[in-house]
Amino acid sequence: MVTAAPLRDSHEGFGLVSRTFHWGMALLFVWQFTSAILHAFAEGTVLDAFFWQTHYSVGFTLFVLVLLRGLWGLANIRNRPPHAGPPFERFAATTGQVVLYAMMVVIPPLMVYRAIASGRGFRVYGLQLVAPGEPTATREALAPLATLHIYLAWTLLAFIVIHAGIALYHAYVRRDATLDRMTKGASPLPLNPGSHRY
Ligand code: HEM
Repeated sequence: MVTAAPLRDSHEGFGLVSRTFHWGMALLFVWQFTSAILHAFAEGTVLDAFFWQTHYSVGFTLFVLVLLRGLWGLANIRNRPPHAGPPFERFAATTGQVVLYAMMVVIPPLMVYRAIASGRGFRVYGLQLVAPGEPTATREALAPLATLHIYLAWTLLAFIVIHAGIALYHAYVRRDATLDRMTKGASPLPLNPGSHRY
């Protein structure tokens, strides 16, 4: 008998909602960093122009999604799957996740605020969310926001690459349940193979 995949998280694995947030946002981040990389290294090309026109809209979408995902995570906090490994690794995994979330929450609004305060207004998917108007801050005062946005965003990319690398290490070196729980929802593999200490 085929049973429907559970929507909510459990100790065995992530539910359909968390997995959809995770992989949907992962795809959007690939798109968003493609636009950023082209802007940094191929500015003025047709490809850059094509991707860059989506940077604000996709960036804003990621911001809305991370807030919703955070709320869903909090609603499921008591029944999420535990981290693998000894206490130090579990602590590092939790800290890494908190830092990832913090960066995803902080990076987009820096530029949304800069666009609005500079008087240019804010437009996503062709929809004028905030109309252009009088600037409420000078270019000089707003410049650090762009610097912070750029540095934090590249740091986020580094964290995402490390995060993906660790997930692959769990799957192909340790051969534990970590990655399965985010792909399949649950896993036949043990969480801590070859150990009863954790
Ligand atoms: C999580 C979402 C976002 C990520 C990961 C991200 C990533 C980046 C990165 C890596 C750069 C640096 C590109 C370079 O070095 O040339 C950048 C630049 C920029 N981003 Fe974003 N971004 C996000 C959201 C947004 C949003 C929502 C806006 C607008 C409201 C925005 C506006 C800009 C602008 C205007 C620049 C160029 C800044 C400058 O060159 O002065 N970004 N972004």
